Amino acid sequence: MRSDVQLENLTSLGIGGMTDQLVLRRFKTIPDTLALLKDAGIAYRMLGGGTNVLVVDGELPFVVLHLPTSQNGMRVEGNTAYVDAAADLGGMVTFCAKHDLGGMEGLIGVPGSVGGALRMNAGAYGTQIGPHVREVEVYREASGRIEMLRDDQIRFDYRHTSFAGGDIMLRVKLELPSKPYKEILAGIRVCNEKRRSSQPLNQKSAGCIFKNPPGASAGRMIDELGLKRHRVGDAMVSDRHANFFVNVGSATCSDMMNLIDDVRGRVRGAFGVELENEVIFWRN
Ligand code: EPU
Repeated sequence: MRSDVQLENLTSLGIGGMTDQLVLRRFKTIPDTLALLKDAGIAYRMLGGGTNVLVVDGELPFVVLHLPTSQNGMRVEGNTAYVDAAADLGGMVTFCAKHDLGGMEGLIGVPGSVGGALRMNAGAYGTQIGPHVREVEVYREASGRIEMLRDDQIRFDYRHTSFAGGDIMLRVKLELPSKPYKEILAGIRVCNEKRRSSQPLNQKSAGCIFKNPPGASAGRMIDELGLKRHRVGDAMVSDRHANFFVNVGSATCSDMMNLIDDVRGRVRGAFGVELENEVIFWRN
């Protein structure tokens, strides 16, 4: 247990209050450990890469759980990859590429852990992780047990899955198409270049704040309203991509929330569209 951990240091937005962090080193002991927390009335949340969460400030009423990455977190057998949920998503894409397994090039620059990508069905440039998934090993709060879910037991939709809130991803089995490393690398380079030219990669953000509404682009709508650089405190609409909201200094959670609500209201007023958050909000 690490005490007094500041979540602003563990999230890509650089926002979030203080709590204790519990590192779950062995999958086997997770059910008993979490049963103890439950019996003691201690609330918990699983933090993956911290790249898609907005966390409230101050003393947090929950501890955060963390899965450490291990040396043996990834392995390939034929067209199948076995990857720990704690692994870095980009690391997984390049590891598979080196074994001549492709299909995930678009995911290369998506920050975060494999577990977070599974939960959100992360995607970019026409690629989503969901279609490659064959099995997910998951701790289920509902049963208090570790279970193996097959792909036909999981629904992967646009930035949404059927995993329950209390599910903790542990490991995934993926099936990937064979492709020569050089070809995969070329695809990765194209995606990296597109991302570099259109997204604020060196600023603190949680990626896109809103989901795209069906048939429309949240970024384009916000841009059309002239809201790039619009800010509340140190929370600002990126001048590079209008669906990225960046922390340009020491933005608080309420700065970011107010900016999100303000922009949502303006888009509703102008386009009659209700934007849904893509970023996950951890309130009290
Ligand atoms: N656009 C603007 N102004 C902007 C931003 C975008 O006019 O400020 C226009 C672009 O020119 C383009 C259209 O809007 O014509 C779509 O923009 P883009 O290609 O950047 O894609 P997006 O729909 O805004 C989605 C994902 C991104 C992903 C990119 C690339 C969502 C919410 N966002 O963005 O994912 O990286 O496609 O595939 O689905 C994320 O999930 O956090 C994320 C960043």
